[in-house]
Amino acid sequence: MTDQTILLEGEAVLLPPPFSHYPYGIVGSTQDIARSYAEKEGRKNFVVTAAQQQTGRGRQGRVWASPEGNLYATLMLCPKRPMHEWGQLAYVFGLALARALEEFGVPEVQLKWPNDILIKDAKCCGILIETVETSLGEKGILVGTGINLLFAPENTPYPATSLKKVIGKEILPFQFLPAYIKSVQECVLEWEQKGFASLRQTWLSKAWRLGEQIGYKSEQASEETVLFRGIDADGCLLLEDHEGHIKRILTGDVIFPEA
Ligand code: BTN
Repeated sequence: MTDQTILLEGEAVLLPPPFSHYPYGIVGSTQDIARSYAEKEGRKNFVVTAAQQQTGRGRQGRVWASPEGNLYATLMLCPKRPMHEWGQLAYVFGLALARALEEFGVPEVQLKWPNDILIKDAKCCGILIETVETSLGEKGILVGTGINLLFAPENTPYPATSLKKVIGKEILPFQFLPAYIKSVQECVLEWEQKGFASLRQTWLSKAWRLGEQIGYKSEQASEETVLFRGIDADGCLLLEDHEGHIKRILTGDVIFPEA
């Protein structure tokens, strides 16, 4: 924590139960604050937000630029399905964000594997999911979400956009937050009660580049061009290579084509 890490209790937004809101001003990363609430104080079902992050991070150790004006939130919850299914939550949260964006009139929301949210082929939101265990021994997840409400980062290796650019309106972080949490609750409940099958088709209906050639890069190998065939019933990415073999993939990155 930095010297500026102060909880601004008076700014807490009323979220749908059982979630509590812990709003901060300037922090290193909301992921770290949320982890500490869970690991040191045994808390669950809460959302930590920050106006700015000094060391915001993305997937695979990348930096997440975090100037004031966008939404930076980490949600902690304990999913009520077996842990081996938790990988599917990347899709569940992607869909929840897409639905919340659509409520604000955002057109053409697309979901890019594993959990980027695009608007008109440019990244607008990113999701980082980490696991955590509370001091009371409950296993849960920390879902960090960065939403470019006002600013899109510059000099990114991919096209980036913001809600302001797309819909021409300024949406404040605390206007968007309750809609996002409500959408998360609906999607997580559907997944908990009915399983992944129920959400899979909806995710695929918004999937970026489904049925097209994409660049795929695993952590170990160099980028390869493959056909994006979909996701299977467990949530694995299905890629077809040049010889027509289908591979089931759990990790890695789908790459944006060169602009
Ligand atoms: C990605 O696309 O790589 C994921 C980006 C996740 C950024 C969010 S902002 C709130 C939370 N705190 C962080 O440090 N990262 C996540």
